[in-house]
Amino acid sequence: MELYQAIRGRRSIRKFKPDPVPKELVYKVLDAANWAPSGVNLQQWKFYVVSGQKRDQIAASYGRVTEKNYPPVGQRTEQQESFLTWAKTYGGAPLIIVATMPRDEQQPRRRKMHLESVSAAFQNLLLAAYAEGLGTCWMTGPLAAEEELMEILQLPADEEIVALTPLGYPDQQVADKPRHDPDLKEKVVWVE
Ligand SMILES: Cc1cc2nc3c(=O)[nH]c(=O)nc-3n(C[C@H](O)[C@H](O)[C@H](O)COP(=O)(O)O)c2cc1C
Repeated sequence: MELYQAIRGRRSIRKFKPDPVPKELVYKVLDAANWAPSGVNLQQWKFYVVSGQKRDQIAASYGRVTEKNYPPVGQRTEQQESFLTWAKTYGGAPLIIVATMPRDEQQPRRRKMHLESVSAAFQNLLLAAYAEGLGTCWMTGPLAAEEELMEILQLPADEEIVALTPLGYPDQQVADKPRHDPDLKEKVVWVE
């Protein structure tokens, strides 16, 4: 797939088919992630590919986090109910990928560098997945329960979660999201 087509066509997917994703394909998109630029060439990303019961626990955690901010049952809008269904299930995706970076809380500049490196890798992952016909959704909302996720996955204390994404075959078509400033009149400043 052409690069610009992937950049323009990728959308957040929140409903998936249950079909499994072949391991080689998972490696293929993670290999694309692994080719991202990184601060000091540390390549400081790590990817946990989660399925089965752990997958279900991670989804349940996001369900609880989301529900906490919602009105009680019976007083929710249709949109809230639908988002909650997505949150509780990760849209039925067979896999969840959790990306981590080294924990470097004492050094804010290094932490920023780690965060940007892993984010670059994560975007590569999303674009490669799209090029392979797979769906993803960049997620940080679940980090409201980051400690719980760390516990579920038994992550080492020297790692910090950057983002999560479901991974699977899409079961929905999502319309383009209009750009706030399509002509880049406000978002680009030429300093000459
Ligand atoms: C840093 C970041 C965090 C996000 N967190 C969530 C999330 O927790 N839950 C969710 O459903 N979508 C999340 N999204 C997806 C955005 O809602 C989505 O990218 C945005 O609405 C634009 O839609 P598109 O991805 O289809 O272009 C996140 C996206 C980014 C980049």
